[in-house]
Amino acid sequence: MPSRIDDGRDDMMNDFENIRVQFPGLRRDVAYLDNAATTQIHQSAIDAMHAYRLGGRSNVGRGLYPLAGETIQQYDDARSNVAHFVGADSERCVFTKSVTEGLNMIAFGLRDRLQPGDEILLSPFEHHANILPWRRIAKERGVIVKTMPMLADFTLDLDGAIAMMDSRTRIVAMTMMSNVLGTVLPIADFTRAVRTLPLPRGSKEGFAPIIIVDAAQAAAHLPINIADLGADALVFGSHKCYGPAGIAAMILSPSLIDSLEPMIVGGGMVDSITADDAVWKAGVEKFEGGSPNVESAIGFAAAAKWIQGQHHSQWCHPREYGDPVNVLRRRLITDLRSIPDVTVFDPPGAVGIVSFMIDGMHPHDIADMLGQRGVCVRAGNHCAVPLVEKLSSYGTLRASLAMYNDAQDVEALVSNLKVIVKKLKV
Ligand code: ALA
Repeated sequence: MPSRIDDGRDDMMNDFENIRVQFPGLRRDVAYLDNAATTQIHQSAIDAMHAYRLGGRSNVGRGLYPLAGETIQQYDDARSNVAHFVGADSERCVFTKSVTEGLNMIAFGLRDRLQPGDEILLSPFEHHANILPWRRIAKERGVIVKTMPMLADFTLDLDGAIAMMDSRTRIVAMTMMSNVLGTVLPIADFTRAVRTLPLPRGSKEGFAPIIIVDAAQAAAHLPINIADLGADALVFGSHKCYGPAGIAAMILSPSLIDSLEPMIVGGGMVDSITADDAVWKAGVEKFEGGSPNVESAIGFAAAAKWIQGQHHSQWCHPREYGDPVNVLRRRLITDLRSIPDVTVFDPPGAVGIVSFMIDGMHPHDIADMLGQRGVCVRAGNHCAVPLVEKLSSYGTLRASLAMYNDAQDVEALVSNLKVIVKKLKV
């Protein structure tokens, strides 16, 4: 592998080179800057899945022989490690196939609790996975979906959001980090404020909306502790966290674990079944009908463990060095701003992601040309139309960083952009 360009992080470079070689996908000769869509997989996740495959496997919860016991143990360990990654107990951690599936499961499970006139409150930064499930149940139940306000600097208007809460607000669904702008939402401040609001006039019961946090983007960038967030549910996936695709985690409060209606019904989640009725199992198994994706769970757990190690390592310690990904993000923004007619969105406190546009050029054309030149970015609406249409009519270009990106990737993006802009501008 050619040595990487010095990006001003000299004292970290040795560790940094070590990190890059731990991702076999980076052997391809591309600048991979589409990590908000999917990251490359870490070697530890590959190794853990490989060991499981080679070691003999069985289904979970269906066999009484010793090999089945081993597989169950591995699946349980994976669950504990993934739960631990966000400070939760394994009894609260449900494996799903994706964040989208988890959010759909929560929306489905809550729908019978909603009455006409109730309200669901969303942040203005949601991607479709955290909009459409709510819109669908709202339509079914005569519920109103409202969107919190955004400030002119593309951060959440926290006071405005809190002011929208009243006794009709049954559900709040919000991302922890925007997949378009990298904006970090003040979830803990929001939940703290909401939980201590005075009981609204006329409300009979406690003022307790269910707060659901989508950590699909945040999980790879920010240490998360669900207790600090004060959320009732938190979802995050493996493939944006250096793990395999096809698996995600849905962390539910004990009360939701007990009371949420399961969306997927089938083998493995039933306690008893009669001719016309069935009783669901208690706990996380209630939500995991069908044969589980054991090997991806094992890979997910390995990747989560690796991220945790990075968060704890000196290399990544914010007080020592500043988060290296965000040192690089600042450099990316500065370099992008040297391109003529560029608009760069840089909300205060944003992490990991930069959306930008070049005046008079369609983002798809630019992304396509960048792709031909070995630079991988995403262009368009990023599955977040309500937010992106506030930024541009044609969508944006988006560069999203991971722990393995470096100045050479930024340099590849910016130098190729300059060539493309020169070519396309007449
Ligand atoms: N939500 C993913 C993205 O932002 C797919 O690209």
